[in-house]
Amino acid sequence: MRFNINQIKDMKIKGEKIAMLTAYDYSTARILDEAGIPLILVGDSLGMVMLGYESTIPVTMEEMLHHTKAVVRGTQKALVVGDMPFMTYHISTEEALRNAARFIQEAGAQAVKLEGGLTVADKVRRIVDCGIPVMGHIGLTPQSVNALGGYKIQGKTPATAQKLLDDAVALEQAGVFAIVLETVPAPLAARVTQQISVPTIGIGAGAGCDGQVQVINDLLGSFSDFVPKHAKQYARLSDIIKNAVTEYHNEVKSGVFPSEKNSFTMDEAILANLNKPGCCSQPE
Ligand code: KIV
Repeated sequence: MRFNINQIKDMKIKGEKIAMLTAYDYSTARILDEAGIPLILVGDSLGMVMLGYESTIPVTMEEMLHHTKAVVRGTQKALVVGDMPFMTYHISTEEALRNAARFIQEAGAQAVKLEGGLTVADKVRRIVDCGIPVMGHIGLTPQSVNALGGYKIQGKTPATAQKLLDDAVALEQAGVFAIVLETVPAPLAARVTQQISVPTIGIGAGAGCDGQVQVINDLLGSFSDFVPKHAKQYARLSDIIKNAVTEYHNEVKSGVFPSEKNSFTMDEAILANLNKPGCCSQPE
């Protein structure tokens, strides 16, 4: 049985911290699922860490669905959240509903996430009313990087701090089951967390949130373009991979790999008879 949104909401009530991670492929999702991670986000961050785009803006529905399907196939217990890409929920409520439904119906996700507060609350309400759980995302919303003027900390002025709080309340009232707070001052995130009844999941938002989310590549040290300040590298996978690949390269060049252990044998007589008349008339 997979985790469901009621269990996630109960974790806040019980004071149990929630660990969420991103995943974009079958193998990684399987490891996270086996490790007991209850919430897996197929984030549109895949545009940067998987596909090499400069931002999340170019990511399409088809790309998101492709990766979400793989993550769903790799999980049995985690609640899988599909991230709705830029401009797939803004143009009309109908389009927002249709795209949210594709994550559930085609890709097999259990919930969707979308960026924005008050301005998307009406769409959130309609998606939730259709039976699709929604996770909110406020603070630094990377799909709006051009409007925000860069990847900057949000909510530092009285007006923007109040806006963050108002956005969180609007999303709660619209029916979200959790809200991601990205790159906001820790005291403000703690205040939002106290004020709303649904769990807050922080990324660069301090320890006062109900849970934390990290991009798996940051956590494992496998994305070397940049390391965000909020990330902690629990491993240096890029070094491990580079060492393994270099060793393989050297062993192929020197003939050490493949060894007999990695090879398949056959009856020597078959080889000896090749090209001789009548040798090969028997089907396998
Ligand atoms: O796309 C993503 O990975 C995200 C998380 C950083 C919350 O939105």
